[in-house]
Amino acid sequence: MLQPLTVRGLTLRNRLVVAPMCQYSVTDGLVGDYHLVHLGRFALGGFGLVVVEATGVTADGRISHGDVGLWSDEQIPGLARIVDFLHAQGAAAGIQLAHAGAKASSRRPWDGGGPVTPENARPGEEPWPTVSASEVPVGPGWPTPHALTVEELAGIREAFVAAARRSLGAGFDLVELHAAHGYLLHQFLSPLTNRRTDAYGGSLEGRMRFPLEVADAVRAVWPADKPLFVRVSAVDGSREGITIEDTVAFARELKARGVDAVDVSGGGIGGGWEHPLGYGYQVPFAAAIRAEADLPTMAVGLIVDARQAEAIVADGSADLVALAREAQDDPNFAVHAARALTEGSCETYPVQAGPRLASRSTLLGTLGPWTGPAPVQVEQPA
Ligand SMILES: Cc1cc2nc3c(=O)[nH]c(=O)nc-3n(C[C@H](O)[C@H](O)[C@H](O)COP(=O)(O)O)c2cc1C
Repeated sequence: MLQPLTVRGLTLRNRLVVAPMCQYSVTDGLVGDYHLVHLGRFALGGFGLVVVEATGVTADGRISHGDVGLWSDEQIPGLARIVDFLHAQGAAAGIQLAHAGAKASSRRPWDGGGPVTPENARPGEEPWPTVSASEVPVGPGWPTPHALTVEELAGIREAFVAAARRSLGAGFDLVELHAAHGYLLHQFLSPLTNRRTDAYGGSLEGRMRFPLEVADAVRAVWPADKPLFVRVSAVDGSREGITIEDTVAFARELKARGVDAVDVSGGGIGGGWEHPLGYGYQVPFAAAIRAEADLPTMAVGLIVDARQAEAIVADGSADLVALAREAQDDPNFAVHAARALTEGSCETYPVQAGPRLASRSTLLGTLGPWTGPAPVQVEQPA
Protein backbone atom coordinates (compact mmCIF):
# COMPACT_ATOMS: atom_id res chain seq x y z
CA MET A 1 0.00 0.00 0.00
CA LEU A 2 2.89 2.32 0.69
CA GLN A 3 4.65 1.45 -2.55
CA PRO A 4 4.34 3.69 -5.62
CA LEU A 5 2.05 2.59 -8.44
CA THR A 6 2.50 3.53 -12.07
CA VAL A 7 -0.53 3.62 -14.38
CA ARG A 8 0.27 4.79 -17.91
CA GLY A 9 2.44 7.89 -17.45
CA LEU A 10 1.29 8.59 -13.90
CA THR A 11 3.20 7.41 -10.83
CA LEU A 12 1.35 7.63 -7.52
CA ARG A 13 3.51 7.89 -4.39
CA ASN A 14 1.34 5.25 -2.67
CA ARG A 15 -1.95 3.40 -3.23
CA LEU A 16 -4.10 5.43 -0.84
CA VAL A 17 -6.79 7.47 -2.55
CA VAL A 18 -9.31 10.03 -1.36
CA ALA A 19 -12.61 8.96 -2.87
CA PRO A 20 -14.80 11.59 -4.54
CA MET A 21 -16.98 13.36 -2.00
CA CYS A 22 -19.67 15.85 -2.95
CA GLN A 23 -19.56 18.90 -0.73
CA TYR A 24 -22.62 20.69 -2.19
CA SER A 25 -20.79 23.89 -1.33
CA VAL A 26 -20.27 25.96 -4.46
CA THR A 27 -22.32 28.35 -6.56
CA ASP A 28 -22.60 28.02 -10.35
CA GLY A 29 -20.19 25.06 -10.24
CA LEU A 30 -17.20 27.29 -9.35
CA VAL A 31 -14.74 26.04 -6.72
CA GLY A 32 -12.91 28.47 -4.45
CA ASP A 33 -11.11 28.56 -1.10
CA TYR A 34 -13.30 25.93 0.53
CA HIS A 35 -12.30 23.27 -1.99
CA LEU A 36 -8.64 24.30 -1.95
CA VAL A 37 -8.51 23.65 1.79
CA HIS A 38 -10.85 20.64 1.82
CA LEU A 39 -8.86 18.82 -0.89
CA GLY A 40 -5.47 20.30 -0.09
CA ARG A 41 -5.43 18.84 3.41
CA PHE A 42 -5.53 15.33 1.92
CA ALA A 43 -2.38 16.06 -0.08
CA LEU A 44 -0.68 17.32 3.08
CA GLY A 45 -1.99 14.16 4.73
CA GLY A 46 0.03 11.98 2.39
CA PHE A 47 -2.55 10.44 0.05
CA GLY A 48 -1.25 9.32 -3.33
CA LEU A 49 -4.31 10.45 -5.28
CA VAL A 50 -7.07 12.91 -4.45
CA VAL A 51 -10.21 12.67 -6.57
CA VAL A 52 -12.43 15.75 -6.85
CA GLU A 53 -16.10 15.06 -6.18
CA ALA A 54 -18.79 14.26 -8.76
CA THR A 55 -18.46 17.19 -11.17
CA GLY A 56 -21.38 18.05 -13.41
CA VAL A 57 -20.67 17.81 -17.13
CA THR A 58 -23.79 19.91 -17.70
CA ALA A 59 -25.62 22.31 -15.40
CA ASP A 60 -28.72 20.13 -15.37
CA GLY A 61 -26.60 17.03 -14.76
CA ARG A 62 -25.72 18.33 -11.30
CA ILE A 63 -27.07 16.52 -8.25
CA SER A 64 -27.76 19.82 -6.52
CA HIS A 65 -27.36 23.55 -7.02
CA GLY A 66 -24.19 23.30 -4.88
CA ASP A 67 -22.27 20.85 -7.08
CA VAL A 68 -18.91 21.47 -8.72
CA GLY A 69 -19.14 21.80 -12.52
CA LEU A 70 -17.03 21.65 -15.65
CA TRP A 71 -19.56 22.63 -18.26
CA SER A 72 -17.90 25.98 -18.89
CA ASP A 73 -14.34 27.19 -19.43
CA GLU A 74 -14.88 29.65 -16.58
CA GLN A 75 -14.80 26.69 -14.21
CA ILE A 76 -11.25 25.67 -15.20
CA PRO A 77 -9.09 28.18 -13.26
CA GLY A 78 -10.47 27.38 -9.80
CA LEU A 79 -9.81 23.68 -10.36
CA ALA A 80 -6.36 24.40 -11.84
CA ARG A 81 -5.42 26.20 -8.62
CA ILE A 82 -6.35 23.09 -6.61
CA VAL A 83 -4.49 20.78 -9.00
CA ASP A 84 -1.36 22.93 -8.66
CA PHE A 85 -1.55 22.73 -4.88
CA LEU A 86 -2.05 18.95 -4.88
CA HIS A 87 0.93 18.55 -7.21
CA ALA A 88 3.11 20.84 -5.09
CA GLN A 89 2.37 18.56 -2.12
CA GLY A 90 3.20 15.38 -4.01
CA ALA A 91 -0.33 14.09 -4.62
CA ALA A 92 -1.85 13.27 -7.99
CA ALA A 93 -5.09 14.97 -8.94
CA GLY A 94 -8.15 13.16 -10.27
CA ILE A 95 -11.64 14.37 -11.07
CA GLN A 96 -14.89 12.43 -11.23
CA LEU A 97 -17.05 13.48 -14.18
CA ALA A 98 -20.73 12.90 -13.65
CA HIS A 99 -24.29 13.34 -14.83
CA ALA A 100 -26.94 12.75 -12.19
CA GLY A 101 -29.79 11.88 -14.58
CA ALA A 102 -32.99 11.26 -12.62
CA LYS A 103 -31.17 12.04 -9.34
CA ALA A 104 -30.46 15.62 -10.44
CA SER A 105 -32.29 18.59 -8.94
CA SER A 106 -31.85 17.22 -5.40
CA ARG A 107 -31.63 19.08 -2.13
CA ARG A 108 -28.39 19.15 -0.18
CA PRO A 109 -28.34 16.32 2.39
CA TRP A 110 -28.37 18.77 5.29
CA ASP A 111 -31.43 20.47 3.82
CA GLY A 112 -33.21 17.11 3.99
CA GLY A 113 -32.21 15.49 0.66
CA GLY A 114 -34.83 14.31 -1.83
CA PRO A 115 -36.02 16.30 -4.82
CA VAL A 116 -36.14 20.10 -4.87
CA THR A 117 -39.72 21.32 -5.11
CA PRO A 118 -41.08 24.85 -5.54
CA GLU A 119 -42.11 24.65 -1.86
CA ASN A 120 -38.77 23.52 -0.37
CA ALA A 121 -36.37 25.31 -2.76
CA ARG A 122 -33.83 27.77 -1.34
CA PRO A 123 -34.38 31.25 -2.82
CA GLY A 124 -33.08 31.30 -6.39
CA GLU A 125 -32.55 27.51 -6.45
CA GLU A 126 -35.55 26.29 -8.40
CA PRO A 127 -36.04 22.63 -9.41
CA TRP A 128 -35.31 21.62 -12.98
CA PRO A 129 -36.60 18.74 -15.15
CA THR A 130 -34.55 15.54 -15.02
CA VAL A 131 -33.59 12.91 -17.60
CA SER A 132 -32.81 9.21 -17.54
CA ALA A 133 -32.69 6.02 -19.58
CA SER A 134 -36.43 5.52 -19.05
CA GLU A 135 -39.35 7.22 -17.37
CA VAL A 136 -38.56 5.62 -14.01
CA PRO A 137 -38.44 7.85 -10.92
CA VAL A 138 -35.52 7.14 -8.58
CA GLY A 139 -37.91 6.47 -5.72
CA PRO A 140 -41.31 7.26 -4.26
CA GLY A 141 -41.98 10.99 -4.32
CA TRP A 142 -39.41 11.72 -7.03
CA PRO A 143 -40.44 13.27 -10.35
CA THR A 144 -40.63 11.14 -13.47
CA PRO A 145 -37.58 11.84 -15.65
CA HIS A 146 -37.70 12.37 -19.40
CA ALA A 147 -36.40 9.32 -21.32
CA LEU A 148 -33.46 10.56 -23.38
CA THR A 149 -33.67 10.30 -27.16
CA VAL A 150 -30.72 8.97 -29.15
CA GLU A 151 -29.94 12.55 -30.29
CA GLU A 152 -29.96 13.77 -26.69
CA LEU A 153 -27.64 10.92 -25.69
CA ALA A 154 -25.11 12.14 -28.24
CA GLY A 155 -25.28 15.58 -26.62
CA ILE A 156 -24.56 14.19 -23.15
CA ARG A 157 -21.72 12.06 -24.50
CA GLU A 158 -20.20 15.21 -26.01
CA ALA A 159 -20.65 17.02 -22.70
CA PHE A 160 -18.52 14.31 -21.03
CA VAL A 161 -15.92 14.80 -23.77
CA ALA A 162 -15.92 18.58 -23.35
CA ALA A 163 -15.56 18.22 -19.57
CA ALA A 164 -12.65 15.81 -20.07
CA ARG A 165 -10.93 18.40 -22.30
CA ARG A 166 -11.48 21.01 -19.59
CA SER A 167 -10.08 18.58 -16.99
CA LEU A 168 -6.96 18.43 -19.13
CA GLY A 169 -6.92 22.22 -19.26
CA ALA A 170 -7.02 22.31 -15.47
CA GLY A 171 -4.02 19.95 -15.31
CA PHE A 172 -5.69 16.84 -13.89
CA ASP A 173 -3.71 13.60 -14.05
CA LEU A 174 -6.69 11.28 -14.07
CA VAL A 175 -10.38 11.26 -14.98
CA GLU A 176 -12.90 8.97 -13.36
CA LEU A 177 -16.29 8.49 -15.02
CA HIS A 178 -19.14 8.14 -12.55
CA ALA A 179 -21.15 5.06 -13.54
CA ALA A 180 -22.26 4.20 -9.99
CA HIS A 181 -24.66 5.19 -7.20
CA GLY A 182 -27.80 5.45 -9.31
CA TYR A 183 -26.66 8.37 -11.46
CA LEU A 184 -27.20 8.58 -15.22
CA LEU A 185 -24.68 6.00 -16.50
CA HIS A 186 -25.79 3.57 -13.80
CA GLN A 187 -29.43 4.28 -14.73
CA PHE A 188 -28.54 2.88 -18.17
CA LEU A 189 -26.68 -0.14 -16.78
CA SER A 190 -29.32 -1.23 -14.29
CA PRO A 191 -32.37 -3.26 -15.31
CA LEU A 192 -34.15 -1.53 -12.41
CA THR A 193 -34.12 1.81 -14.24
CA ASN A 194 -33.47 0.93 -17.88
CA ARG A 195 -36.70 -0.22 -19.55
CA ARG A 196 -35.73 0.87 -23.05
CA THR A 197 -36.65 -1.23 -26.05
CA ASP A 198 -34.12 0.36 -28.43
CA ALA A 199 -30.40 -0.47 -28.84
CA TYR A 200 -29.65 1.23 -25.47
CA GLY A 201 -31.74 -1.14 -23.37
CA GLY A 202 -32.89 -4.71 -22.97
CA SER A 203 -29.96 -7.11 -22.78
CA LEU A 204 -26.80 -6.34 -20.80
CA GLU A 205 -25.15 -5.50 -24.10
CA GLY A 206 -27.81 -2.87 -24.78
CA ARG A 207 -27.71 -1.46 -21.26
CA MET A 208 -23.92 -1.13 -21.39
CA ARG A 209 -23.99 0.62 -24.77
CA PHE A 210 -24.30 4.24 -23.63
CA PRO A 211 -21.77 4.05 -20.75
CA LEU A 212 -19.32 2.32 -23.12
CA GLU A 213 -19.87 5.00 -25.77
CA VAL A 214 -19.05 7.63 -23.16
CA ALA A 215 -15.92 5.74 -22.08
CA ASP A 216 -14.83 5.37 -25.70
CA ALA A 217 -15.40 9.03 -26.50
CA VAL A 218 -13.58 10.27 -23.40
CA ARG A 219 -10.67 7.86 -23.93
CA ALA A 220 -10.32 9.26 -27.46
CA VAL A 221 -9.63 12.79 -26.17
CA TRP A 222 -7.98 11.98 -22.84
CA PRO A 223 -4.20 11.75 -23.44
CA ALA A 224 -2.67 8.29 -23.86
CA ASP A 225 -0.27 8.91 -20.96
CA LYS A 226 -3.09 9.69 -18.50
CA PRO A 227 -5.25 7.07 -16.75
CA LEU A 228 -9.00 6.80 -17.15
CA PHE A 229 -10.95 5.12 -14.33
CA VAL A 230 -14.64 4.23 -14.11
CA ARG A 231 -16.57 3.99 -10.85
CA VAL A 232 -19.19 1.25 -10.87
CA SER A 233 -21.83 -0.05 -8.55
CA ALA A 234 -20.69 -3.66 -8.73
CA VAL A 235 -24.14 -4.74 -7.58
CA ASP A 236 -27.40 -2.90 -7.19
CA GLY A 237 -28.69 -2.62 -3.65
CA SER A 238 -31.59 -4.85 -4.65
CA ARG A 239 -30.79 -8.42 -5.62
CA GLU A 240 -33.13 -7.91 -8.59
CA GLY A 241 -30.63 -5.52 -10.16
CA ILE A 242 -27.07 -5.66 -11.52
CA THR A 243 -25.07 -8.73 -10.48
CA ILE A 244 -21.33 -9.07 -10.04
CA GLU A 245 -21.30 -11.18 -13.23
CA ASP A 246 -22.84 -8.23 -15.13
CA THR A 247 -20.17 -5.93 -13.74
CA VAL A 248 -17.32 -8.30 -14.61
CA ALA A 249 -18.66 -8.30 -18.18
CA PHE A 250 -18.83 -4.49 -18.13
CA ALA A 251 -15.27 -4.29 -16.79
CA ARG A 252 -14.01 -6.50 -19.62
CA GLU A 253 -15.59 -4.11 -22.14
CA LEU A 254 -14.09 -1.12 -20.33
CA LYS A 255 -10.68 -2.74 -20.43
CA ALA A 256 -11.02 -3.31 -24.17
CA ARG A 257 -11.65 0.44 -24.53
CA GLY A 258 -8.52 1.50 -22.68
CA VAL A 259 -10.00 2.09 -19.23
CA ASP A 260 -7.21 1.54 -16.71
CA ALA A 261 -9.04 0.65 -13.50
CA VAL A 262 -12.48 0.17 -12.05
CA ASP A 263 -13.36 1.90 -8.78
CA VAL A 264 -15.68 -0.63 -7.17
CA SER A 265 -18.59 0.75 -5.18
CA GLY A 266 -22.20 -0.43 -4.93
CA GLY A 267 -25.88 0.46 -4.74
CA GLY A 268 -27.58 3.78 -5.26
CA ILE A 269 -30.83 2.86 -6.95
CA GLY A 270 -33.80 2.61 -4.64
CA GLY A 271 -31.78 3.29 -1.52
CA GLY A 272 -31.70 -0.21 0.00
CA TRP A 273 -28.76 -2.64 0.41
CA GLU A 274 -29.70 -6.33 0.51
CA HIS A 275 -26.08 -7.55 0.65
CA PRO A 276 -23.84 -8.04 3.68
CA LEU A 277 -22.56 -4.85 5.29
CA GLY A 278 -19.36 -4.77 7.30
CA TYR A 279 -15.78 -3.49 7.24
CA GLY A 280 -14.56 -3.60 3.65
CA TYR A 281 -17.92 -4.96 2.49
CA GLN A 282 -17.29 -4.07 -1.17
CA VAL A 283 -13.73 -5.46 -1.29
CA PRO A 284 -14.89 -8.93 -2.48
CA PHE A 285 -16.43 -7.26 -5.54
CA ALA A 286 -13.15 -5.47 -6.31
CA ALA A 287 -11.33 -8.78 -5.94
CA ALA A 288 -13.75 -10.59 -8.27
CA ILE A 289 -13.47 -7.92 -10.97
CA ARG A 290 -9.68 -7.84 -10.68
CA ALA A 291 -9.45 -11.62 -10.98
CA GLU A 292 -12.09 -12.22 -13.62
CA ALA A 293 -11.80 -9.15 -15.84
CA ASP A 294 -8.03 -8.91 -15.33
CA LEU A 295 -8.28 -5.19 -14.73
CA PRO A 296 -6.80 -3.18 -11.83
CA THR A 297 -9.33 -2.22 -9.19
CA MET A 298 -9.79 0.35 -6.47
CA ALA A 299 -11.55 -0.86 -3.31
CA VAL A 300 -13.79 1.43 -1.28
CA GLY A 301 -16.32 1.22 1.53
CA LEU A 302 -15.78 1.07 5.29
CA ILE A 303 -12.01 0.84 5.08
CA VAL A 304 -10.93 2.42 8.34
CA ASP A 305 -7.56 1.04 9.41
CA ALA A 306 -4.04 1.03 7.97
CA ARG A 307 -3.63 -2.73 8.45
CA GLN A 308 -6.99 -3.36 6.80
CA ALA A 309 -5.97 -1.24 3.81
CA GLU A 310 -2.56 -2.89 3.63
CA ALA A 311 -4.13 -6.37 3.61
CA ILE A 312 -6.45 -5.43 0.73
CA VAL A 313 -3.47 -4.54 -1.47
CA ALA A 314 -1.20 -7.28 -0.12
CA ASP A 315 -3.67 -10.11 -0.77
CA GLY A 316 -4.34 -8.94 -4.30
CA SER A 317 -7.97 -7.87 -3.80
CA ALA A 318 -7.30 -4.42 -5.22
CA ASP A 319 -4.49 -2.21 -6.52
CA LEU A 320 -5.71 0.94 -4.80
CA VAL A 321 -7.64 1.66 -1.62
CA ALA A 322 -10.00 4.63 -1.46
CA LEU A 323 -11.39 6.27 1.65
CA ALA A 324 -14.20 8.78 1.97
CA ARG A 325 -15.60 9.17 5.50
CA GLU A 326 -12.40 7.96 7.17
CA ALA A 327 -10.47 10.61 5.23
CA GLN A 328 -12.93 13.27 6.33
CA ASP A 329 -12.42 12.13 9.90
CA ASP A 330 -8.65 11.87 9.56
CA PRO A 331 -7.25 13.85 6.62
CA ASN A 332 -3.81 12.65 7.80
CA PHE A 333 -4.82 8.99 7.41
CA ALA A 334 -2.09 8.27 4.84
CA VAL A 335 0.79 9.67 6.92
CA HIS A 336 -0.63 8.00 10.00
CA ALA A 337 -0.86 4.71 8.08
CA ALA A 338 2.73 5.01 6.89
CA ARG A 339 3.83 5.70 10.44
CA ALA A 340 1.86 2.75 11.80
CA LEU A 341 3.26 0.35 9.22
CA THR A 342 6.89 1.53 9.45
CA GLU A 343 7.47 1.44 13.20
CA GLY A 344 6.87 5.11 13.76
CA SER A 345 8.70 6.72 10.86
CA CYS A 346 7.58 10.31 10.20
CA GLU A 347 9.25 10.46 6.80
CA THR A 348 6.07 10.73 4.76
CA TYR A 349 4.84 13.82 6.63
CA PRO A 350 5.36 17.17 4.95
CA VAL A 351 8.83 18.45 5.73
CA GLN A 352 7.33 21.24 7.81
CA ALA A 353 6.00 18.63 10.25
CA GLY A 354 7.90 15.34 9.95
CA PRO A 355 11.25 16.19 11.58
CA ARG A 356 9.57 18.01 14.46
CA LEU A 357 7.21 15.09 15.05
CA ALA A 358 10.14 12.65 14.97
CA SER A 359 12.04 14.58 17.67
CA ARG A 360 8.87 14.88 19.74
CA SER A 361 8.40 11.11 19.42
CA THR A 362 11.82 10.60 20.97
CA LEU A 363 10.93 12.89 23.86
CA LEU A 364 7.53 11.27 24.37
CA GLY A 365 9.28 7.91 24.41
CA THR A 366 11.32 8.99 27.42
CA LEU A 367 8.32 10.56 29.18
CA GLY A 368 6.12 7.52 28.70
CA PRO A 369 2.41 7.78 28.01
CA TRP A 370 0.40 10.69 29.34
CA THR A 371 -1.65 9.20 32.12
CA GLY A 372 -4.35 11.69 32.94
CA PRO A 373 -5.20 15.23 34.05
CA ALA A 374 -2.55 15.16 36.77
CA PRO A 375 -0.44 18.19 37.73
CA VAL A 376 1.94 19.44 35.06
CA GLN A 377 4.94 17.14 34.85
CA VAL A 378 8.11 19.19 35.36
CA GLU A 379 10.65 16.45 36.05
CA GLN A 380 12.14 14.69 33.07
CA PRO A 381 12.60 10.98 33.84
CA ALA A 382 16.25 9.94 34.04
C1 LIG B 1 -19.74 13.32 2.04
C2 LIG B 1 -19.72 12.26 0.96
C3 LIG B 1 -19.86 12.61 -0.36
C4 LIG B 1 -19.78 11.64 -1.37
N1 LIG B 1 -19.80 12.02 -2.69
C5 LIG B 1 -19.51 11.12 -3.65
C6 LIG B 1 -19.27 11.52 -4.98
O1 LIG B 1 -19.21 12.71 -5.31
N2 LIG B 1 -19.05 10.56 -5.90
C7 LIG B 1 -19.02 9.23 -5.57
O2 LIG B 1 -18.83 8.39 -6.45
N3 LIG B 1 -19.21 8.83 -4.31
C8 LIG B 1 -19.42 9.74 -3.34
N4 LIG B 1 -19.52 9.34 -2.04
C9 LIG B 1 -19.27 7.92 -1.70
C10 LIG B 1 -17.82 7.73 -1.31
O3 LIG B 1 -16.93 8.05 -2.37
C11 LIG B 1 -17.54 6.28 -0.85
O4 LIG B 1 -17.70 5.41 -1.93
C12 LIG B 1 -18.46 5.84 0.29
O5 LIG B 1 -18.62 6.86 1.24
C13 LIG B 1 -17.91 4.59 0.99
O6 LIG B 1 -16.59 4.80 1.45
P1 LIG B 1 -16.28 5.17 3.01
O7 LIG B 1 -16.81 4.04 3.85
O8 LIG B 1 -14.78 5.29 3.06
O9 LIG B 1 -16.97 6.46 3.34
C14 LIG B 1 -19.63 10.28 -1.02
C15 LIG B 1 -19.54 9.93 0.33
C16 LIG B 1 -19.56 10.90 1.32
C17 LIG B 1 -19.40 10.48 2.77
